[in-house]
Amino acid sequence: MMQMLPEALEAYIAAHSTPEDEVLRELSRETHLKVLMPQMLSGHLQGIFLELTSRMLRPARILEIGTYTGYSAICLARGLSPGGVLYTIERNEELAPLCHKYFQKAGLQQSIRLLIGNAAHIIPTLHETFDLVFIDADKINYPLYYDLVFGKVRQGGIIIADNVLWSGKVAEPTHDKDTAALHAFNCKLKNDPRIRHFILPLRDGLHLAVKL
Ligand SMILES: C[S@@+](CC[C@H](N)C(=O)[O-])C[C@H]1O[C@@H](n2cnc3c(N)ncnc32)[C@H](O)[C@@H]1O
Repeated sequence: MMQMLPEALEAYIAAHSTPEDEVLRELSRETHLKVLMPQMLSGHLQGIFLELTSRMLRPARILEIGTYTGYSAICLARGLSPGGVLYTIERNEELAPLCHKYFQKAGLQQSIRLLIGNAAHIIPTLHETFDLVFIDADKINYPLYYDLVFGKVRQGGIIIADNVLWSGKVAEPTHDKDTAALHAFNCKLKNDPRIRHFILPLRDGLHLAVKL
């Protein structure tokens, strides 16, 4: 992943933001030790951004597409209103024990529902209205996930999609398959009059959209 900010500035921001707590630090460490592709985990700065966004919104229902080991699920669930629920979808069932271990350690096992399976099949079965949706699964299906979730997001609700700059590749003249899908996703939002939106150049790029 491309480093958006000079290393020293990123370190300064990390040092002057709420530090990563012990549960998330341990989850990150265990993910790096035991799971393939640990760079997929949101990490400290994106995690605190997601937590604060969720705390500002105080959602009753959150949908996350792409759990991995549960780092961003924990961050987002920390902002839930009392009695609120976060649904998180992950197709790799082998990750479930690690997720449950850390949902428990974070004291969030009652608020987080891990749904194992293909997001494209599971989303249509969810009969909920969501205040916040975080899209962070297979890049090729971002446009599909946007279409599947849009009708389930309340007016004023937020959709956030991760990795929309794809290490800067979206701005290059030629695109591989994933880059093309992410570029198509960014164009889809640009052409959607039902939202106000902005690409935040944090980490690998977060596309934030508010449903009007
Ligand atoms: C980038 S990781 C998610 C990282 C996590 N949100 C975080 O920030 O810590 C993407 C995850 O999506 C899962 N995934 C990919 N395609 C999927 C699909 N079609 N349905 C459900 N999960 C999928 C992958 O197995 C992987 O664990």
